[in-house]
Amino acid sequence: MADKKVALITGANKGIGKEIARQLGVQGFTVLIGARDAGRGAEAVADLTKDGIEAQAIQLEVTDQASIEAAVVKVEADYGKLDVLVNNAGVYFESGAASETDIETFKKTYDTNVFGVFAMIRAFLPLVKKAEVGRIVNMSSGLGSITQNSDPNWAFAAAKPVAYNSSKSAVNAITVIFAAELKNTPIKVNAADPGYVATDLNGNSGYRTVEQGATAAVRLATLPADGPTGGYFDEDGAIPW
Ligand SMILES: NC(=O)c1ccc[n+]([C@@H]2O[C@H](COP(=O)([O-])OP(=O)(O)OC[C@H]3O[C@@H](n4cnc5c(N)ncnc54)[C@H](OP(=O)(O)O)[C@@H]3O)[C@@H](O)[C@H]2O)c1
Repeated sequence: MADKKVALITGANKGIGKEIARQLGVQGFTVLIGARDAGRGAEAVADLTKDGIEAQAIQLEVTDQASIEAAVVKVEADYGKLDVLVNNAGVYFESGAASETDIETFKKTYDTNVFGVFAMIRAFLPLVKKAEVGRIVNMSSGLGSITQNSDPNWAFAAAKPVAYNSSKSAVNAITVIFAAELKNTPIKVNAADPGYVATDLNGNSGYRTVEQGATAAVRLATLPADGPTGGYFDEDGAIPW
């Protein structure tokens, strides 16, 4: 067990997170299915286990520090390390223009998408440091790219939910800053853009599958020692900040 690589994915009971877990599980990782609802986590584990994947549910509400700390204690006790952390849990609440967005929506979005990512990295970093090669992947979005948001001809130029887009820009900044702090360690910290994927987050309006959406994150979770850190990638390579 100790020799097996362990990956924790937040928000892994469904959507892209569950598929990231599946793909890492197929590669031989023990996957810890972060789920804020224990029942939904157990269902995902049952499903993945049927496919021969070694999966375990772990209760994780990323806006709740007590939940995060309990998860750290559990991973430490069960595995003593964490090889891969995928900060995938994310929310999208908006409709309407930036000027019509209320502050509570903004705060709720940041609670999960920004503060949740920071809290998870901060809490799990000691366990990631205990792994031989640690990998941290932050699920961003192309909508977090300030360069793309500034381009009126960009394919998604009309998509300007201010809380969501800026929350993912913040995720990008957090990625660069932790990568810089960890540059003299084997740990790599990168941001992934899954593309526009059909999931509950967007009422299944995306045109990409979860299999396609998981690809970039899985690649970043399994980067070789000479791979990049502090970058922002979709499945085709680097994308502009
Ligand atoms: N779908 C897209 O087109 C797209 C594009 C770009 C980026 N992304 C990003 O990809 C990630 C996954 O999204 P998805 O499309 O797979 O959405 P999804 O199907 O709605 O899944 C989101 C997951 O995050 C969990 N979650 C939400 N808030 C949480 C919290 N506070 N604590 C713990 N878990 C929480 C959800 O749990 P519950 O089941 O309990 O709600 C669910 O497991 C998100 O970060 C999203 O922003 C998605």
